Amino acid sequence: MRENLFFTAFVCLFKGIMYFCSKIIHHSFILHSFMSLLDLIQRRYSCRTYQPLGVEQEKIAYVMECVRLAPSAVNKQPWRFHLISEPADKAKLQECYDREWFKTAPLYIIASVLHDEEWVRADGKHHGDIDVAIAVEHLCLAATEQGLGTCWVCNFDAALLKERFALPADEEPAVVIPIGYPADEPRQKKRKPIGEILSA
Ligand SMILES: Cc1cc2nc3c(=O)[nH]c(=O)nc-3n(C[C@H](O)[C@H](O)[C@H](O)COP(=O)(O)O)c2cc1C
Repeated sequence: MRENLFFTAFVCLFKGIMYFCSKIIHHSFILHSFMSLLDLIQRRYSCRTYQPLGVEQEKIAYVMECVRLAPSAVNKQPWRFHLISEPADKAKLQECYDREWFKTAPLYIIASVLHDEEWVRADGKHHGDIDVAIAVEHLCLAATEQGLGTCWVCNFDAALLKERFALPADEEPAVVIPIGYPADEPRQKKRKPIGEILSA
């Protein structure tokens, strides 16, 4: 009798552990393996408050690999990225975009166009901005997938940033992306209806 009870308790405990493990595996599968591109795009939002936590090196390496693989016109890859994490550099950057929320990020990435390297079409149209924009959105989506928040920031003082970070003449800072664990919640997306943007 006592052995039977012990055996039943053991089976229940085993089943409980198996159930718990299957939930964890299921959850991580949904989050990391089977998240569709549409899910990822819906989850990305402009995060404007960050937790006071660092970002793991592996996550930054993963995000930057997604950036590195971005396409560009004539494959020129006319970009440079600066990881800003030192307190003195962060202070310099915050001076260029003076917003309280911006100061909460533990890390920033400056994305620049290298004008000497960008493809210029025969009619004179420069393509560096387009290239950098694609790479930056790779960055934001990869960060979202890793549970990180980001926000595109272009409304900074570009001349001041260029001067503070002593950027070379051909390098134009195009976007600054704060990156870290979100401390705010996504808002409902306001977008034009498909009929307004697609003509068939
Ligand atoms: C090119 C570009 C520049 C932006 N610049 C800023 C900025 O300087 N400051 C800011 O708070 N948000 C900035 N944003 C974020 C937009 O306001 C935001 O993407 C838009 O309102 C849609 O919201 P969502 O990103 O949460 O979907 C920028 C976004 C893009 C794409």
